[in-house]
Amino acid sequence: MPKIKTIYQCQTCGYVSPKWLGRCPDCGEWNGFVEERKGAVTRQSSRDIHPGKSTPRPLSAIASGYEQRASTGIKELDRVLGGGVVSGSVILIGGDPGIGKSTLLLQTLFGLSKQYGPVLYVSGEESPEQIKIRSERLSINSGDIILISETSLESIMHHATKVVPKALVVDSIQTVYTEELVSAPGSVSQVRDCASKLMLFAKRSDIPVFIVGHVTKEGAIAGPRVLEHIVDTVLYFEGDGGHSYRILRTVKNRFGSTNEIGVFEMSDAGLIEVENPSRLFLYERPVNVSGSTVVASLEGTRPLMVEIQSLVSHSTFGMPRRTAMGVDFNRVNLLVAVLEKRVGLHLGGMDIFVNIVGGLRISEPAVDLGIITAITSSLRDIPVGPNVFMFGEVGLSGEVRAVTQAEARLKEGAAIGFKRALLPSGNAEKIKSNCGVEITGVKTVEEFLEIIFH
Ligand code: TYD
Ligand code: MG
Repeated sequence: MPKIKTIYQCQTCGYVSPKWLGRCPDCGEWNGFVEERKGAVTRQSSRDIHPGKSTPRPLSAIASGYEQRASTGIKELDRVLGGGVVSGSVILIGGDPGIGKSTLLLQTLFGLSKQYGPVLYVSGEESPEQIKIRSERLSINSGDIILISETSLESIMHHATKVVPKALVVDSIQTVYTEELVSAPGSVSQVRDCASKLMLFAKRSDIPVFIVGHVTKEGAIAGPRVLEHIVDTVLYFEGDGGHSYRILRTVKNRFGSTNEIGVFEMSDAGLIEVENPSRLFLYERPVNVSGSTVVASLEGTRPLMVEIQSLVSHSTFGMPRRTAMGVDFNRVNLLVAVLEKRVGLHLGGMDIFVNIVGGLRISEPAVDLGIITAITSSLRDIPVGPNVFMFGEVGLSGEVRAVTQAEARLKEGAAIGFKRALLPSGNAEKIKSNCGVEITGVKTVEEFLEIIFH
């Protein structure tokens, strides 16, 4: 009889222990251990080694298989994937509940089915009738989108092998279970085993598989981190409740670059691609109001013009408040310190709020000059000219440091209609082509503020 082994596994990081523990020694999470049972535990010894079906081949002897990419018909998604869906790849899409994952995938399947033939949508969360209601809102009607409501992985595989779809969607991995394991759907071992099996299925059949993954309150895809290791591509679908736009971000991509973003707008007829996000984010920008400025930021390979706002006011409390939304809080504190020490601004008794408009989150240091400008503009109550934008990193001694892809940023600014750019002189010296805007290189924060608020 196969030996049944009970183990305890941390649901956050996948750490395995023979005993229940209150706190995971690996990731430090409390109350994360859940009992899991492993069915047959097979023993392998070195006597069992065998050649299997694989043959080692020299690299030079391998024909360079031109990877086949299918276009989803959604340009923003194609770009995020690195130029379309690679056949046999597994793509994990994570995101908060209600953000639009199912909507995006239904639209993707529709795009694929129009061009390539039948596709299969497996939902463990909604009945085919509920999906039909959604498809009506999206004006999608097709005989090539085949729906099943199923949670057993074995029967999903069965249907997928029979239908031979051009793409398979599993919505969501947390609802699917394999009959080989006794643990509940959504547990670490179920999620991991199901994902590996889907991966194997994709590689063998050359069918691309999209997997939906729920996100925990900490913002990671629920289940172990190994899930992200198993799949080829990890995409996060983000956005905040108060805004209708959504951002699809690549976190991992074996077939393209990471940090690429796709921008969508959620409308009452589904997700609409936003081809020019800079215009979207600058749409309601106030002109000639102090505390607002525009920065050319970069998301992956894509320049994005964003508005940064700041409000600096006298604090009525002993301890002034500092709030940063969309940018790193510590970065704002650091820049405030640079302004105090290197420029001599008195910010000690001031409440300072910094916000990236539109609920965007930006982590690159090129926004430093923008944060500095917004804070100074609000403090002095002097508006920044409407046709000026900037980018550049600020160092602790008040120096302005060069950033990557200066030309792409300048061109984006020119395309939106800006006339003048302030940038690190390290970048300005290297710009040869005419980017369509008047450029001024700066070396220090002091010099920069002098020019912008002369
Ligand atoms: P959904 O795709 O079900 O989200 P997820 O699968 O990520 O949980 O999207 C649900 C939300 O999107 C819901 O709040 C309603 C909204 N929505 C629209 O605004 N317009 C639409 O056309 C559709 C289909 C959904
Ligand atoms: Mg859904």
